[in-house]
Amino acid sequence: MKKILLETIYRKKTSRRPLWIMRQAGRYLPEYRTLRKTHSFKDLSRSPDFATEVTLLPIKRFNLDAAIIFADIMSPVPSLGIDFDFDPGPVITNPISDNKDVDKLIETGSEEIAPEVMKAIAQTRSELSNEIALLGFCGAPWTLSAYLVEGKGNKDFPKLRSFLASEPEVMERLLEKITLHMISYLKSQVEAGVDAVQIFDSWAGLLSLDSWQRHIKPHLEFLLSEIGKTNVPRILFLQNAPHLISSYAALPSEVLAIDWRVNLSEIKNLYGKNRAIQGNLDPAILVAGPEVTRQETRKILKSVDPVGHIMNLGHGIMPSTPLESVDALIDEIHNEENR
Ligand code: CP3
Repeated sequence: MKKILLETIYRKKTSRRPLWIMRQAGRYLPEYRTLRKTHSFKDLSRSPDFATEVTLLPIKRFNLDAAIIFADIMSPVPSLGIDFDFDPGPVITNPISDNKDVDKLIETGSEEIAPEVMKAIAQTRSELSNEIALLGFCGAPWTLSAYLVEGKGNKDFPKLRSFLASEPEVMERLLEKITLHMISYLKSQVEAGVDAVQIFDSWAGLLSLDSWQRHIKPHLEFLLSEIGKTNVPRILFLQNAPHLISSYAALPSEVLAIDWRVNLSEIKNLYGKNRAIQGNLDPAILVAGPEVTRQETRKILKSVDPVGHIMNLGHGIMPSTPLESVDALIDEIHNEENR
């Protein structure tokens, strides 16, 4: 059996568009909330058995075309020697503030980077049916560095942006180390059995184009080209960065994934000739209920050419999303030809 997600990535014609949902294994699912009553997020994500179980929860409930391994962008961070917690997002105990902090980051062998994630990938792949793709992922070097320097998610990340301006060399060394760590981490995921990888650059848009090109782009480009050597397709997701889309589109990736702020059919016409495009229903639409979800999904289906289009939200599904809206989205995708 072929995986329609992979077929679409390589721009083959398929019976319908593939669909998966960013953050599909999370708090909008009652089964997940039940597990969270007795276990912390850290406990769940650090146990291969729980991580496998949670990865499969949305697949058991919904007809989706990909599973994404239950982990976090922070999962490879403990092996760097950095301590953090979740509240509910990552909070770093001692954020990076100078060269000494960067020196202290541990350079480990790949077998020491989040071995629980590799176990969960192998277990999930063996339980997942053949036509469903398994996705691995990591945070982009910039997005991970954003948390490590700012210390937590923060509007516009002022500390991070000042740090880049005052300590560009320290930032350069930090990005270099994180990039190498992420390359090892993703390569291990590929060996463990993922079918594709997504690189989440959630905080892509914080910098000007000029600053991004000078400080960030070389690292992301190096990561993508190294992962390209594995022959597993790369999905590059950028969030809230309309001014950087053409630059991201020039980077090597099989799929460009974007948020809801931009017009998907325009993006596909501009950058989707030789690659697939993923997105981009506003997650807030689903919170508004199944009827609105249907209407807005149909607008995307009508305007976006299906060849090379992976349907998804423009960012992670919100915890307050009604399950009926997810059902409505799936129904629209599965019955597109009949409407
Ligand atoms: O279902 C999936 O997509 C797989 C698992 C996954 C999680 N985090 C689990 C999680 C994935 C792909 C991520 C990626 C992630 N984590 C990103 C990139 C994507 C994005 O949303 O932009 C970022 C920025 C993070 C950092 C992070 N981790 C935040 C901001 C939060 C808190 C709130 C939230 O859910 O967004 C987390 C914790 C986290 N990661 C939870 C889950 C299910 C919630 C933990 C809980 O149960 O309380």
